[in-house]
Amino acid sequence: MNTTKSQCVLLTGGAGYVGSHTIIPLIESGYEVVVLDNLSNACKGLEGQKPVPITKVEELTGKEVTFYNVDLLNSNSVSEVFDKHDFCCVIHFAGLKAVGESCHIPLTYYRVNVSGSINLLEVMKAHNVKKLVFSSSSTVYGEPQFLPITEAHSVGNNLLNGYAKSKYYIEGILQDLCNSDKDWSVIILRYFNPVGAHPSGNLGEDPTGIPNNLMPFVAQVAVGSRPCLQVFGNDYDTVDGTGVRDYLHIMDLAEGHVSAVKKLQTNNKNGAVAINLGTGNGYSVLQVIDMFSQVSGRKIPYEIVGRRQGDCASSYCDASFAKDYLGWEAKRTLKEMCQDTWKWQSLYPQGFSTLK
Ligand code: UFG
Repeated sequence: MNTTKSQCVLLTGGAGYVGSHTIIPLIESGYEVVVLDNLSNACKGLEGQKPVPITKVEELTGKEVTFYNVDLLNSNSVSEVFDKHDFCCVIHFAGLKAVGESCHIPLTYYRVNVSGSINLLEVMKAHNVKKLVFSSSSTVYGEPQFLPITEAHSVGNNLLNGYAKSKYYIEGILQDLCNSDKDWSVIILRYFNPVGAHPSGNLGEDPTGIPNNLMPFVAQVAVGSRPCLQVFGNDYDTVDGTGVRDYLHIMDLAEGHVSAVKKLQTNNKNGAVAINLGTGNGYSVLQVIDMFSQVSGRKIPYEIVGRRQGDCASSYCDASFAKDYLGWEAKRTLKEMCQDTWKWQSLYPQGFSTLK
């Protein structure tokens, strides 16, 4: 296939929550998008069709997205994808992300996240594609030592689970790679708490089983799929005793990736740079419940239970470096995060399996 080198971006894990939403502003900015995903955590399409989130993105944008059902652990298949396209850049989302599960099956997490990343980097190197945006997490900061968290905050200390450590290790690998070869240019994006959905309501977070995270759980209680939310602790030193987080609208996060890709294309300075993506504002669990209840018009039953192991009281970022370096800042409010989540949840009460 002949694609213009400067405009074709590969998304690993592009059928997942963050990946699928990111395709939309990429296409709107004129990029061609190729997705590679093993569908371990995405809704598969009918026989012979693309995965459901990709089909939805195509409907929303009116543009085609090339899709490969490929596992990063299979280097030969990854290499074949690179043989077919000239990528200007790769956005690496693919990986396992359930914090609790990573404590039970750490080897699987390291194999998929760390080995998968190494495979990808080796294939990129072999094809002389040396620009990468990496999907990292604020979890690499561990228990915050100060707030708001800047990029200068220490990383890798007291990480309590394999998921967090896998992100930290991959960041280290990327730093080493950039130190060893000055042609590499890497932007590491440390997400705070991505929530929400595309404003059409036709694309959103589609967790399998019981959601681990607050917003999808609240949405499922609001729609009646679950009877009650458990609030993990109300004795933290916060505004109302419940945990405070930096929630970030998924479309703002998606646009942050486009800014990173553009930066990689115009940047003369190589090396690895880590950047926080958040709003810089913190909201408590009870504030989120209250806002969701207002926008949905639904009562959200909840009970206060004990703290969840590994949780901190508050986590929110200093988002100024993203603005300085990428020219990006989050625009959407908590109200929009809740409204768009509710639109998605009402249209697809069981997520994309509603369609089946
Ligand atoms: N919470 C509840 N009840 C729930 C779920 C969550 O009260 O059913 C609370 C948590 O205790 C916390 C807040 O809601 O105070 C947010 O919890 P989430 O699970 O939504 O988010 P976390 O901040 O714990 O985790 C997120 C990502 C992780 C990532 C981490 C980095 O989901 O992948 O941020 O800090 F590792």
